[in-house]
This record gives sequence, C-alpha cells and structure tokens, in this order.
Amino acid sequence: MTLYSQNFYRLLYDWYEANHRILPWRETENPYYIWLSEIILQQTRVVQGMDYYYRFVTTYPTIEMLAAADEDDVLRLWQGLGYYSRARNLHRAAQMIVGNQASSIRQNTSDYSNYISEIRFPKTFNELRSLPGVGDYTAGAIASFAYNLPYPALDGNVYRVLARLNDCEMAFDTSAGKKYFHGLAEQLLDKANPRLFNSAIMEFGALYCLPQSPDCTNCPIQAFCKAYTAGTVDLLPVRKPRPTLRNRYFTYTIYITPDNKTLIHQRSAKDIWQHLYEFPLIEHSSEEKWQKYKMHGARALPSFTHILSHQRLHARFYVMPVNELPILPDSFAITWEELDNYALARLTLKAIEAVNRLP
Ligand code: ADE
Repeated sequence: MTLYSQNFYRLLYDWYEANHRILPWRETENPYYIWLSEIILQQTRVVQGMDYYYRFVTTYPTIEMLAAADEDDVLRLWQGLGYYSRARNLHRAAQMIVGNQASSIRQNTSDYSNYISEIRFPKTFNELRSLPGVGDYTAGAIASFAYNLPYPALDGNVYRVLARLNDCEMAFDTSAGKKYFHGLAEQLLDKANPRLFNSAIMEFGALYCLPQSPDCTNCPIQAFCKAYTAGTVDLLPVRKPRPTLRNRYFTYTIYITPDNKTLIHQRSAKDIWQHLYEFPLIEHSSEEKWQKYKMHGARALPSFTHILSHQRLHARFYVMPVNELPILPDSFAITWEELDNYALARLTLKAIEAVNRLP
C-alpha cells in the first residue's frame, strides 16, 4: 500500500520522460560503471563529472583494470576533482571486489577490447553498503539503477523535494533528520519501478524543484506539495548550522633552476591531500606570522584563498630562482614538465598555471 496515488507517479514520470538529460551512466546497467559515476558525482556537478566519468571508463573499462592500477595513476586521473579520499576508496573497493574472487579470474589478460569482466559485482544493498566510500545514498543508487531493487537514494536534490512535498522543517543533515527523511522516502518510493522512480525524483530536484525560486505555478506535482499550500517552499529544506571553517596559513616555495628543475614532496600525514604531491611547504600558526614571513630574492604570486569542506586555506607561493636546489627532507627534484606526472591538489595546479603565465 502506498500513500501516494498512481496519479502522482504518472505526473512525475511524464515530466521525467519529457525533460530528463541523456547521461551516459543512465544508458548502462553495468554496475561497475554506475558505481564509478556515483562516486564521481558524490561531491561534483554533472557537467564537471562527465569528463571524469569518460576518463575512468576509457582508462579502466573493467573493474579488474582499476584494481590492477597503481594508486598514483588513479589519483592522477582524479586530479582536479577534490575529495581525494573518494579516489582512494574507489581503488581499494575495486581491489576488495576483485581480490575476493582472484582465483576465478583469467590471469594476465592483455587484450581487453572484447574482454567481458568475469567479476561478480556486489549485488545486494548490504554488500554494496559495505564497500569503502559507499554510504546509504550510493548503495541505494547502485541497487536501484543497476538492479532495479527497491531502495531509496537520497541525494541533496531528493532531500529538497521530500522536505517540500511533506512541508518538513526538520534539518535533514542530522542523524535524526536522516532517519526521518529515509522513512519519508521509503513511503514515497514506487516499489514497482525503483530505477525509474529514483531517476525521476532526482532529476526533478536537479532541474525543476530548484533551491531558489522554483517555478511552482507550473509544477506538475504542485497538487501534492504541502509546502506549496503552506507557502514555505523558499524556506525548505532546513540544514543544521554549518561549523565555522578552520583557517590555515601556508607558504610554498617554488624553486626553479636554470635548467627548469624544481622540488616537490609527497604529503603523508593524516591531513588534507594525503598522498598528493606539492611544493615545499611551511605552515604558520597564525595569520600574523604568515603575513610577516618574507622570502628574500623570491617573487611572490598573488595569495590564494582555497576552501575545502572544513578548512579555509590561505596560501602564498614564492617563486625562487636558484642555481642549485637546496637539500630538503623528503623533497626530491623533477623538471617543470614532469609535474604533469604527479597527482596534485587543485591549489597546486592553480599556482602552476599562475607561474606558467608569468612573463
Ligand atoms: N547525481 C548523482 N547521481 C546522479 C545520477 N545518477 N544522475 C544525475 N545526477 C546525479
């Protein structure tokens, strides 16, 4: 028994049929490709994610190939997307899935052009949910999109649609809120058509039921929207107050020798950008110390402010011409062109671009 009439689903699906985007991960039922797309799209917009999706399915057309890749190569393919733990988890999950079945796989396959993966991808919600990097949303999305299993998939867009349909002013991003909205989603889910339903409600949130000034007058499901009746659409959904960002102050030195060599090091501490490479760094304990710090004989690039999920980074890069590179613990020398071979955070890429633009 559903609380929603067949009329609701018909209106939603008619809207979906007429308005949805053609997206490559919707054209496949291959769970490996769907999983890749969902991990990429976790914190990334569709337009930006598309290019990365093609990179990954082209470079690693099967999960065996992803599992066999070097972590450095996976991170390099991920470069620029941010939230690098997603890439590390992706790689680890592929190794877990393939590793568990290693004895049944053909060894040393070299021609992948007609190769059909022999790996059994996890098939139940609980198996999916146990993979690193896969939470309730992603497990529900893969279960419904790949296998048409009746699990809701609550992304930010779906939370917004649910909050408005139900005129629910509870914050959706607390543990109590998540539980409550999950219950609302289970009631609303069309258990006969979970793949279509999840695609349609997600797309409706992404394209029509927009955060700001949605076009409620022409909304196809307006008659079912309690927030519309109550006049609360613009106030919903409600989130918990955001924590303040932690400020950090960085000074980087970009050494350059006459034969175009520079120094980099790999980040290893349990901190941001684990395993990525960057120029030698000094971190200052206060803004004042950062502002006072000067490097003589170096040219300062305009300083950057770079926002991560919990931190605001203030970074200044000095370009330091030297005849010989200094010896620094953990750092090593490469040519400027070789920077392309290393996985770099977006902040570092921005600095490299700025250096390349210098006269
Ligand atoms: N965002 C997250 N998953 C998505 C999907 N499958 N289609 C469109 N946008 C998405």
